[in-house]
Amino acid sequence: MTDNILPGVKSAYLIRSGMGERYLVGGQLATLIARSEDTGGLLEATIMSGGAGAEFPLHQHARSHESWYVLAGQIELHLAGKAYFLNRGDYANIPPNTVHGYRMRSHYTRVLVWMVGGDAAKLFSSLGEPYEGFVPPEGVPASILAPSKNVAESACDIKFTGDDPPSTGLFNSFETRVPPAGMAPYVLREGEGERLIAAEQLFGFLAHQGNTNGSFITLTTMGPKGDRIPDHFHEKHTETFFCLDGVMTMWANGEELQLLPGDFLHVPPNTIHSYRLDAPFTRFVGMLAPGLFEPFFRTFCDPYEAYIFPQAPKPGRFDRVIKKLAELDLKLVGPPR
Ligand SMILES: [Fe+2]
Repeated sequence: MTDNILPGVKSAYLIRSGMGERYLVGGQLATLIARSEDTGGLLEATIMSGGAGAEFPLHQHARSHESWYVLAGQIELHLAGKAYFLNRGDYANIPPNTVHGYRMRSHYTRVLVWMVGGDAAKLFSSLGEPYEGFVPPEGVPASILAPSKNVAESACDIKFTGDDPPSTGLFNSFETRVPPAGMAPYVLREGEGERLIAAEQLFGFLAHQGNTNGSFITLTTMGPKGDRIPDHFHEKHTETFFCLDGVMTMWANGEELQLLPGDFLHVPPNTIHSYRLDAPFTRFVGMLAPGLFEPFFRTFCDPYEAYIFPQAPKPGRFDRVIKKLAELDLKLVGPPR
């Protein structure tokens, strides 16, 4: 597996924190960690970094479905006529044809932006220019210039509304604690989402299949230091792992890798893989595309009310998984550990 180089073909790869293909876009750094060509057209992932005041004007996409996880700092998200103040760990679901834009509010803001059905790499190369640096440049963030907006509109799936995000300073409260039904835009506070438990691992659904027309699911996995999960592979869906807290060991295609916060692993179908959580509080966020793996979690886990994993493990229902194995996109390699 090559490290820190986007492979250009659908394959398993690792991108360490801060690495990836970088563009300077209106004073912000766009770091691509997954492009369409690296994922077989399934998904793209970009980390937007910038300082207080950096903005992205209001716009919408006809086809691209965006999914946000705030990694650091604070950011105003303007979404379908409402404004939300997002902090680290907050999530946003932004379906196609939803007007949105943002303004960063802290000096070290970073947001992980997944895109499905779009052309993020083309978008950032049209809006910005290749950039050698690993952090946004010094000085006041510049705005995105009109000529580059025009280039992006003609080449990519984006339409600007012509407005900057409003600056009233008034924010909406978060309306929901779980993903609502359907393709609606919504935001979730850190820790909210539908929670499920298996053994000592807590899974938090941030987007269900129903929120994405089946194109992806997004969930967090959180737990203490534990055992290695069984080696397995999937035939139909791609799995991604973005480490948020703690330390984890991963195995993919026979290689052992240690993932630290900010590290990203792309695991396409037919890649034998496994993970183990290695620190007392370890958490990762994953986008799985397409979203067909959701029934696995409903089979393996039970509903869970609390926001932190239990001190003593709950049952993991591998018995139910084994009974339904033929219906789940899961191929176990060897016996469950
Ligand atoms: Fe998997």
